[in-house]
Amino acid sequence: LKIQEYRPQPFTDFTLPENVQAYQAALRTVRAELVGRHYPLIIDGERVDTEGKLTSLNPCDTKEVVGTTAKATIQDAERALQGAWRAFEGWKKWDMDARARILLKASAILKRRRLEACALMSIEVGKNYAEADVEVAEAIDFLEYYARSAMKYAGFGSSETTWFEGEENGLMSLPIGVGVSISPWNFPCAIFLGMLAAPIVVGNCVIAKPAEDSGLIAGFVVDILLEAGLPAGVLQFLPGVGREVGEYLTTHARTRFITFTGSRAVGLHINEVAAKTQPGQRWIKKVILELGGKDGLIVDETADLDVAVTAAVQGAFGFNGQKCSAMSRLIVVDSVYDDVVNAFVERARALSVGTGEENANVTAVVNQMSFDKIKGYLEIAPREGTVLLGGQAPGEANGRAGYYVQPTIVGDVGREARLAQEEIFGPVVAVLRAKDWADALEIANSTQYGLTGGVCSRDRARLEQARHEFEAGNLYFNRKITGAIVGVQPFGGYNMSGTDSKAGGPDYLANFLQLKTVTERW
Ligand code: NAD
Ligand code: ALA
Repeated sequence: LKIQEYRPQPFTDFTLPENVQAYQAALRTVRAELVGRHYPLIIDGERVDTEGKLTSLNPCDTKEVVGTTAKATIQDAERALQGAWRAFEGWKKWDMDARARILLKASAILKRRRLEACALMSIEVGKNYAEADVEVAEAIDFLEYYARSAMKYAGFGSSETTWFEGEENGLMSLPIGVGVSISPWNFPCAIFLGMLAAPIVVGNCVIAKPAEDSGLIAGFVVDILLEAGLPAGVLQFLPGVGREVGEYLTTHARTRFITFTGSRAVGLHINEVAAKTQPGQRWIKKVILELGGKDGLIVDETADLDVAVTAAVQGAFGFNGQKCSAMSRLIVVDSVYDDVVNAFVERARALSVGTGEENANVTAVVNQMSFDKIKGYLEIAPREGTVLLGGQAPGEANGRAGYYVQPTIVGDVGREARLAQEEIFGPVVAVLRAKDWADALEIANSTQYGLTGGVCSRDRARLEQARHEFEAGNLYFNRKITGAIVGVQPFGGYNMSGTDSKAGGPDYLANFLQLKTVTERW
């Protein structure tokens, strides 16, 4: 395979009017060509329709139906699983570089259609231009990065073993079989694509079940992979309800691996059901879980105030706080608490609220369930702290009905409060006052989660201490705590945030391979 070294995709500069105009043109194209579409299931290369349908609504304008997908039944799931095992017999024998070429071709197509993918997400899940742009960049990066990573597992002896006289010894890396990939709606292009491309490139087959709220962008991505030449059955596209087809597949005896990104509750449930051996099961299922977070940013008295406040605003309100990596706890040392918090509130007050298509800073949250859940936290906020900004969920913005929640900051929240411990997954930040640096680090480590975290400080010794002691899979100093870049910041959480699989990292593909040691005596 002849390719240049991996480099992440650059992001688009939306301060340039020509880039804004191009985005708006793409919104018009998507409205004309993709909105209103219906995506059937794809099983063994055939498009299959179902009686039931899943409807995608525009969260920023809930009277608009963006499109529909089929809704898989248990029978569809069973067919998809059996078909994928048949496809595996052929796919596992493909050369690694031939498989990688399909990812690279898909990347080339996605690069050409980058703006369409962005625009579709603005309409389907309410991403503003920059949020959609970095996500599609990440999706392309996953394809490019995993295509190259696969090379190191090609051929006999790809991993190092010690020479032993008179014998040839070596390790083979072999695909493990058919797995199910279950993804969330908040990165419906990048995570959906990354979680299926990784197992597929090293020879496995995947049943991909997208989230119920984001089936259209998933269908768009699947079409690109098929156009790139993915053979029938290697990727089965199975939009459906998680607790129905998701549950069926995660418990199934013939599911070899599960790769899941989503909430802690569903992830832990999958972990439990997958651990139970089913009649006829021949292996221990591999389960990769990437779950929620309650991510904290510490600001100490040595920090650059402007750096800290920028990091807090970007980390808290990017995509309305609907990121597992979002800064939902700001932990400020007492001596600078008022200065930091006042500046944070003032900067957040200036954020615009509106639709993704209008490129507002803060848009609507994804669905009614999420809206209701966040409203519940807003109700308890005055009892758990002082509401310094927002605090309402008006359900409309600029005359449009949608799942709108005001950017909200709650000061002086206690460390055991629900606002300080539970993942809210919306534009709601709990600010916690720490006595000093040691106390701040203790607060940072005081949740069950451990996904991202950050420190804004100019004290070298503290940064070094945090490097070792801050319990987070992704730790950032003097910047925002979101926006990991594939290959640059491998991503995955500690503790209840997941199995720390490090998506976009050098060893991620090993999750989907088994090693065989082979010895030949000469
Ligand atoms: P969710 O857990 O509600 O749903 C995720 C997926 O699981 C969906 O496709 C859903 O249909 C499916 N599902 C639901 N019940 C199931 C069951 N019983 N069996 C099998 N599948 C089932 O999560 P969500 O609301 O889509 O996403 C938001 C969550 O994802 C947040 O908690 C966020 O922190 C987390 N997340 C984590 C990461 C990460 O890398 N750690 C990245 C993005 C999102
Ligand atoms: N990978 C995403 C981020 O880092 C979730 O924000």
